[in-house]
Amino acid sequence: MTRKRTVLLISGRGSNMTALIAAAADPTYPAEIVGVISDKADAAGLGIAAARGVPVQVVARGDFASKEAHDAAIDKALTKLGAEIVALAGYMRLLTTPFVEKWQGRMINIHPALLPLFKGLDSHKRALEAGMRVHGCTVHFVTPEMDDGPIIAQAAVPVMLGDDEAALSARILKAEHRLYPTALRLVAEGKARMENGRVALSGFVDNGDNAAAAIAAPSPLRDEVDLEQLARITP
Ligand code: GRF
Repeated sequence: MTRKRTVLLISGRGSNMTALIAAAADPTYPAEIVGVISDKADAAGLGIAAARGVPVQVVARGDFASKEAHDAAIDKALTKLGAEIVALAGYMRLLTTPFVEKWQGRMINIHPALLPLFKGLDSHKRALEAGMRVHGCTVHFVTPEMDDGPIIAQAAVPVMLGDDEAALSARILKAEHRLYPTALRLVAEGKARMENGRVALSGFVDNGDNAAAAIAAPSPLRDEVDLEQLARITP
């Protein structure tokens, strides 16, 4: 097995980054994290990645005259690292269309909502305001429109009585940390591919191996979200 060279783009605390680095510490995991790039020099995730022996670099927004020049510098850094897959992990800047088109099908993102609901910022606040009983997170291929690309995997979590934004986002973040490594695995193994603007899934075997457990539904063979259970705990 050749492991896919994967670079993570971050802007902040890097908890999803940390989950991906942890998954890839297993030599049988199909992706290898070969670098972390941040657009912010003070991103907390940089120290975490460095402490785990992952090469880090800062490509700061302020050092470039335009978005295009900034993205071109990131592209150059990715090429130098030999990136085969790019995973956005809390990267807080919309990427330019030429950059996205160049990496399309090889670049993925995690969003804290069940897309296509609640694109953009403050998804937990808006889910609470909408009275959602189920909320979640999505890993998708990146396309030029924000949070709009084809869906690779999703995890659903219940909205509990008395939830505020902090409680709900903490529950979802836990799901994100399980979902993202599962989704990156699918992409690295070629089981989830972007074809004609959609996700094509193949190569799934239902061998009872329930890596994503009850919350994640990345498998097209099995209904892993237990909706009856959800109905019991949501009013
Ligand atoms: C996560 O909620 C992710 O879904 C969103 O930004 C947040 C990043 O958090 N895109 P972290 O930096 O991974 O801790």
